[in-house]
Amino acid sequence: MADATPLDDLKQLETQALTHLQQCADEIELRAWNTQYFGDKGLMKSAMSNLGKIPKDQKPAYGAELNRIKAAVTVAYDAALAEAKEKSLQISLTTNPLDVTLPGRTQIRGRLHPATQILQQVYAIFADLGFQVYRTREVETDELNFELLNMPAHHPARDMWDTFFTTTGAVLRTHTSPGQIHVMREAAGKPIRVILPGMCYRNEAISTRSEIQFYQVEGLVVGEGVTMADLKGVITAFARRMFGPERQVRIRSSYFPFTEPSIEVDIDWPKDDPNRDRLTKGTGWLEILGAGMVHPNVLRAGGYDPEKVTGFAFGMGPQRMLMLKHAIDDIRLFWQNDLRFLKQF
Ligand code: DAH
Repeated sequence: MADATPLDDLKQLETQALTHLQQCADEIELRAWNTQYFGDKGLMKSAMSNLGKIPKDQKPAYGAELNRIKAAVTVAYDAALAEAKEKSLQISLTTNPLDVTLPGRTQIRGRLHPATQILQQVYAIFADLGFQVYRTREVETDELNFELLNMPAHHPARDMWDTFFTTTGAVLRTHTSPGQIHVMREAAGKPIRVILPGMCYRNEAISTRSEIQFYQVEGLVVGEGVTMADLKGVITAFARRMFGPERQVRIRSSYFPFTEPSIEVDIDWPKDDPNRDRLTKGTGWLEILGAGMVHPNVLRAGGYDPEKVTGFAFGMGPQRMLMLKHAIDDIRLFWQNDLRFLKQF
């Protein structure tokens, strides 16, 4: 048998390449085949470099045959690749079908707690009225929470605040009023116009109307010639902004040890709310704040001379304002973290 000629070798390369191609089961194997034949070190490349060793007279025929084979094999490869792609597409469509009519997954958006939202509204209104925010501590001494606010030990007015005492003599503040002393001592005689927001604690039986913790926003204005008229002006301006012009504001005289005279301010409960009587004990009004002209003893405790300056103060319940705005009938909803409630704000 005669030795195989270079042309025979080419013919055999073609047969081998096409046979291999048919054996490729998927796109991955086809890509590997392509590297094996057409890669940098592939068999087609080495057939090309063989050209140099071919006798001169056979070169044209060898070259032409190699080009024909390359073209034929490339056509076969392209067809096989297209078919493999189509096949895998069909498989993924039938084995893992995508339902484009399914609704998308909605993103659940976070939101601020309603108590935080109402606090921010309070800050915004008072910022417009020229008040700064001053933050003070939640744990106080008996001296700050009571004594310096004109309530010496055994003063009967202490009963107005059911207090959480600790064994060390510290108390959880029952109101934000001790902050007044802190501000005055820090301001050291300068005029003051601040609000003091924060959490307060009371040792009460939890009910629809009372919680053991709640927010208060204290206010304090001290300076020369500050009067009750200024207090009324600030409170009514605040109530108009917070509740709108159609809601009614009622100012009643009252008693607090740290103010003289003292007042309380009510807002009318929404008239069309069926729970109105229950929530307002039949009066139609809900108290939102206590206030008054700062007692001379309190000014003195803060380092101010009551002969030279006067001041007014108030302590308001922002959660009560939320209740009034939205006719919320149970104060316990605030700290229950029930999303059905929280989502409405
Ligand atoms: N501290 C009072 C309370 O918690 C509210 C209050 C009344 C604050 C009169 C004041 C005020 O600053 O002047 O019931």
